[in-house]
Amino acid sequence: MLIRRAKKEDYPVFAAIEAEHPGYPAWGVKGFEAEEKNRNSVILTAEIDGRAAGFINFWVLRPEVQLNTLAVGRGFLRQGAASALLGKMYEYAAKSACRQIDLEVNENNAGAIALYLAGGFEVVGKRPKFYNNTDAALLLRKALSSKDI
Ligand SMILES: CC(C)(COP(=O)(O)OP(=O)(O)OC[C@H]1O[C@@H](n2cnc3c(N)ncnc32)[C@H](O)[C@@H]1OP(=O)(O)O)[C@@H](O)C(=O)NCCC(=O)NCCS
Repeated sequence: MLIRRAKKEDYPVFAAIEAEHPGYPAWGVKGFEAEEKNRNSVILTAEIDGRAAGFINFWVLRPEVQLNTLAVGRGFLRQGAASALLGKMYEYAAKSACRQIDLEVNENNAGAIALYLAGGFEVVGKRPKFYNNTDAALLLRKALSSKDI
């Protein structure tokens, strides 16, 4: 697996991956393009067998990193792509002297919550009716230590 910076040509693939997960907030090609204007924003992709299998976007807002979106194509699930993308984000965080990662996740997204808890995130808060005015968001935080990098 290769983790690399995303390119414009990857965005349609990312949009197709988003479409494979109904209910997950989709950015679409335009949303990824818009991130290019934000100099704190990083988009990475996990390549498996030469194909973009998943993506992550985060903002480096020293002293913290905000994880905005992370998804993996259905054909590539449970192969460690999300974990590898998170691992590379931790490297970016450390290089930028960030020591904390924050994210929001739908309280009903059991798979993602399992991924984050396995990765050392902790629940630090809850926002009721955050998604479509119905589902709550859990606020998760991970304090980075030298063993994460
Ligand atoms: C959540 C998501 C990103 C996980 O991607 P992935 O590449 O399959 O995750 P990994 O292979 O790195 O999983 C690592 C570990 O996380 C946990 N995990 C991941 N997905 C899980 C699931 N659906 N159910 C339970 N545990 C899960 C497991 O502990 C897993 O280890 P294991 O496979 O050895 O059991 C993927 O399911 C996805 O794209 N979902 C839709 C978008 C989404 O919800 N994104 C989260 C944004 S907040």
